[in-house]
Amino acid sequence: MVITNMKFPKDFLWGTATSAFQIEMGKGEPDPNSDWYVWVHDEDNIKNGLVSGDLPENGPGFWELYPEDLRRAKEELGNNAFRMSIDWSRIFPNPTWEVPVKVSFNSTGDVCHVEISDQSMHLLEEKAYQPSVKKYRDILTECKKLGLTVLLTLYHWPLPLWIHDPIACRDDIVHADRRGWVDQSTIIEFAKYAAYIAKTFGDLVDIYATMNEPMVVSGLGYFYEKSGFPPGLSNLDLFVKVTKNLAIAHGIAYEQVKEWDRVSCSNYGPAYVGIVHCPRYHEPYDKDSKEDVKAANFLEYIENEWFLNMIIKGDFDLNLNMTIEPNEKHPSLVKGCDFIGINYYTRQRVKAAESKIPGIPGFEVVPCTENCTDMGWEIYPKGLRYVLNWAYQLCRRPLMVTENGIADAKDEKRADFLINHIQELHKAIVEDGIPVKGYFYWSLIDNFEWAKGFKMRFGLYRVDYKTKKRTPTKAVSVYKQIASGAFD
Ligand code: BGC
Repeated sequence: MVITNMKFPKDFLWGTATSAFQIEMGKGEPDPNSDWYVWVHDEDNIKNGLVSGDLPENGPGFWELYPEDLRRAKEELGNNAFRMSIDWSRIFPNPTWEVPVKVSFNSTGDVCHVEISDQSMHLLEEKAYQPSVKKYRDILTECKKLGLTVLLTLYHWPLPLWIHDPIACRDDIVHADRRGWVDQSTIIEFAKYAAYIAKTFGDLVDIYATMNEPMVVSGLGYFYEKSGFPPGLSNLDLFVKVTKNLAIAHGIAYEQVKEWDRVSCSNYGPAYVGIVHCPRYHEPYDKDSKEDVKAANFLEYIENEWFLNMIIKGDFDLNLNMTIEPNEKHPSLVKGCDFIGINYYTRQRVKAAESKIPGIPGFEVVPCTENCTDMGWEIYPKGLRYVLNWAYQLCRRPLMVTENGIADAKDEKRADFLINHIQELHKAIVEDGIPVKGYFYWSLIDNFEWAKGFKMRFGLYRVDYKTKKRTPTKAVSVYKQIASGAFD
């Protein structure tokens, strides 16, 4: 295996990415209070094959085993950073509705500002579940001790059950009363949660992502019905509404973190706040077919650009016609975004298909046949350089590769995957001049891959789910060489 000399900026962040729900349970206190927990336990979902039947409480057990895992990240991988999330339902297993805050609405009736008083912050402090607060402090303190800069994601998918009942919504969303991101009341509660996290952990965290892959939350939850993501609906209006509410929620949370984290604990401090997005590289299946080109362009627009236009420019193309009418401009909803996190996994080859929704071009993603991962995703390293260039042109602000990884149970392709993608990243920085501040491999250890459960193995360390033992894959030594700057 040949690794060419690659120089990276001196303060470049090298890390791995994780999320709370996917790694925490398996040892110590489980968290049954989220929509995802209920969703993957639901017998109908299991019977209908929507979810695997694997259960998160049999997971890797990071909740107790974090000191060992973080030590691996530092010593065995030579990392200087770590991406993790906090689960909202662990901190607030019970409602925060009655904590009073001042909410402002813009002329279209959308939530555009939330103000939280010191008194309300005290009420939030009283409501927070202290064993979880202590545990997260312990984990973050351990990161600090090891010299790992933390990138903390506030929302990496599970919602507290008191905000979202995924089964009631799946069965009858019209009459359900806890409807998650469908309702803007969730944005207000998210503001309280974000403020509380920034205030409580701000001395240990400087880099925040408000949320992970909002387009996956709205797309898999409300557009692609059989995706296995809660609440498993296919409804264009809800898809648009949820995407819009997530864009607003990003801005509101951005403001709260800036307001409540006043402590600087790194060069980034006190609060460097971005979002994690998941652009893909799209290509028409037949480049000579006008229909395929149109379908690929549309999917690229929806998946890659649509959401970023909302949070960066205030352009809310709610009728999806790819142009912004005057009533779709909402500058009052733009609050800021210090960096864009890029999760890059694959290329999608797109074919035109019959449109099921009037006014929207039909499309179909052609299944991968060559160079595929266990997820059935095509390995296409050049796409990483493309999306980094694309995102920078659109957003003109620093980027971070917040996820990039491969499900590879046989451990045959991971080492090459890593090298080839990092080479493309290097070209983007050095040849194209794109300001990328870090790279986080997904993931440190094997974990609970949402609807697909434990079969998908993304970890640099293989986990034996019975014994919880971690075993390094071949990519560990490769990543260490790169991350520890052997090629500087
Ligand atoms: C998500 C992770 C997930 C990974 C692999 C990303 O979309 O942020 O939670 O495990 O992809 O599917």
